[in-house]
Amino acid sequence: MHRTFACPGFSAIWTPLFPARRPSVPGPEQTGGPRRPGSWCQNEGVRQGSAARLPSSLDIRAIRFEDVPEILRLIHRAVERGCRHHYDAAQRAAVYVSYAQNLFIESLGPLETVAAEEAGRLIGVAQLDPPSARLRALFVDGASQQRGVGSALLAEVEARARRRGATRLHGAMSLNAIPFYARAGFRACPGAERLIAAGVSVPVLRMEKALRP
Ligand SMILES: CC(C)(COP(=O)(O)OP(=O)(O)OC[C@H]1O[C@@H](n2cnc3c(N)ncnc32)[C@H](O)[C@@H]1OP(=O)(O)O)[C@@H](O)C(=O)NCCC(=O)NCCS
Repeated sequence: MHRTFACPGFSAIWTPLFPARRPSVPGPEQTGGPRRPGSWCQNEGVRQGSAARLPSSLDIRAIRFEDVPEILRLIHRAVERGCRHHYDAAQRAAVYVSYAQNLFIESLGPLETVAAEEAGRLIGVAQLDPPSARLRALFVDGASQQRGVGSALLAEVEARARRRGATRLHGAMSLNAIPFYARAGFRACPGAERLIAAGVSVPVLRMEKALRP
């Protein structure tokens, strides 16, 4: 059985106990309006700005069982860098552990897990739970963030969800990633605002995006 959380297994609690900053979710006019076709793979999920920085050798492919140790290391670096201003050390460790304890099994299915590979090195990973059209994970290695890799992985997940007939993609998003998802067309939606990862409460924001056929 898969755990209930999606993305970095984050959940949201907006209380003094976890005084994480909650970024405002911008409206369409602040997110650049309708997304333009991206240059990378002509995939509509990739914005022009980040696409321009994408490594030309980037390959997005399904993960293999033997990729898992390298992916876990990149998840650790992704969380330590990308989440450091919004989550404390215990929360970041809990998120990492929640993936570490399941990813070997999950790599065998039924979740769809894809990795971004650059010059033989894995630099990002994303996970889709097809039946629920839920984005369960999206991580880009610390040193590779802000280069369009996350957008490319998200576009792949969106394409896979669409192919399975999903009309929306949703997830429990980490607070640091809210601007990223807002720019990709996601909006806040109802749902639990915290998750328990390895016994630690982790704030998140539930977000969703309508998928065009
Ligand atoms: C969130 C994450 C997946 C984004 O991936 P990325 O490769 O760094 O993002 P991209 O380079 O594709 O960014 C796409 C756009 O979003 C913007 N963006 C990305 N992260 C942002 C942030 N934290 N704040 C504001 N804008 C952000 C970029 O500037 C870019 O805009 P542009 O195309 O206009 O230039 C990555 O930073 C990460 O792994 N973070 C740590 C783990 C995490 O929180 N994962 C999400 C779990 S729900």
